Amino acid sequence: MKVLITGATGMLGCDLCKEFSRAGDVAGLARGNREAKQCRASQLLAADITDRDGVARIVRKLKPDVVINSAALSDVNFCELNPEEAFKINAEGAKNAADAAEEAGALFIQISTDYVFDGDKGSAYTEEDKPNPVSVYGDSKLAADDYVRSNIGKYAIIRSSWMFGPCGKNFVDFVVESAKRGDSIRAVGEKYGNPTYTVDLAKAVYGLSAKIRENKAPSGIYNITNEGACSRYELAKEIAGLCGLKAEIISITAKEAGGPALRPKLSALDNTKVSKALGYKLRHYREALEEYIKAGKRR
Ligand SMILES: NC(=O)c1ccc[n+]([C@@H]2O[C@H](COP(=O)([O-])OP(=O)(O)OC[C@H]3O[C@@H](n4cnc5c(N)ncnc54)[C@H](OP(=O)(O)O)[C@@H]3O)[C@@H](O)[C@H]2O)c1
Repeated sequence: MKVLITGATGMLGCDLCKEFSRAGDVAGLARGNREAKQCRASQLLAADITDRDGVARIVRKLKPDVVINSAALSDVNFCELNPEEAFKINAEGAKNAADAAEEAGALFIQISTDYVFDGDKGSAYTEEDKPNPVSVYGDSKLAADDYVRSNIGKYAIIRSSWMFGPCGKNFVDFVVESAKRGDSIRAVGEKYGNPTYTVDLAKAVYGLSAKIRENKAPSGIYNITNEGACSRYELAKEIAGLCGLKAEIISITAKEAGGPALRPKLSALDNTKVSKALGYKLRHYREALEEYIKAGKRR
């Protein structure tokens, strides 16, 4: 199996490269702005996903069986201030990758987000719920989802959330480092989501891709997160507890946190559909968090 993974040097992309390398030959794609030391792709191609012809040429040459688009402008506040760039990368870039995959007859996997929802439902979102983004980031990611649904034959749109993992800057590392320094930590207590370990997510993406390729699961949208929802304030307290660090953790409002982008109040995702397709439920985020923190201590 040949696989092309965009965003290969990103937090999720690195773990996707590692997971898919177990079963096939993985080529990674990124612009080359980040350190690529941890990326396990057999080759790493420097290309901009917004270069439609460039992406098409790469895909024609590689002839992959699976294309995964994990490239994105993922800084939610930056997107809010730079909508053109956000749409160019998150929507047009995704379209370029999707069209190239379709031409090659490959399965296309688009990595999407809980931020396509407004967070007002009051319970976890299923794949059937109607998105209504409250940020430019969410809008730009939804534009990609809509394009893929309407134009691509064999695909999965994978919605996930609040990622942490070994290959990128994330909230867990921020809390650990701040607590070690003895800094007090201010974290939003009024927005809830599912923290998700990129290692678990990559494994589930691999499992789902195999099912779709074998026609044992249909194309479509799939939510994939670790089980359990919390606020960042609650998460910060759990992280400090797991590290055995005494830190002052203060619950703040989103308004106090500042930043131009709005975020959904409760954007937890319901994983029933993917659990049925995979034949297992992802573990609770607490278990994953503990493993990540222990591994961090050994790193
Ligand atoms: N992080 C989260 O909590 C979260 C939550 C829900 C969904 N997601 C989604 O999950 C996916 C992965 O997120 P992540 O956190 O792993 O992102 P990330 O760490 O910010 O990595 C983004 C990757 O995309 C590449 N990239 C960005 N712009 C590009 C361009 N124009 N052309 C080619 N490559 C480009 C980056 O490398 P270069 O800069 O070198 O190009 C990098 O490899 C994204 O689709 C994101 O929307 C993330």
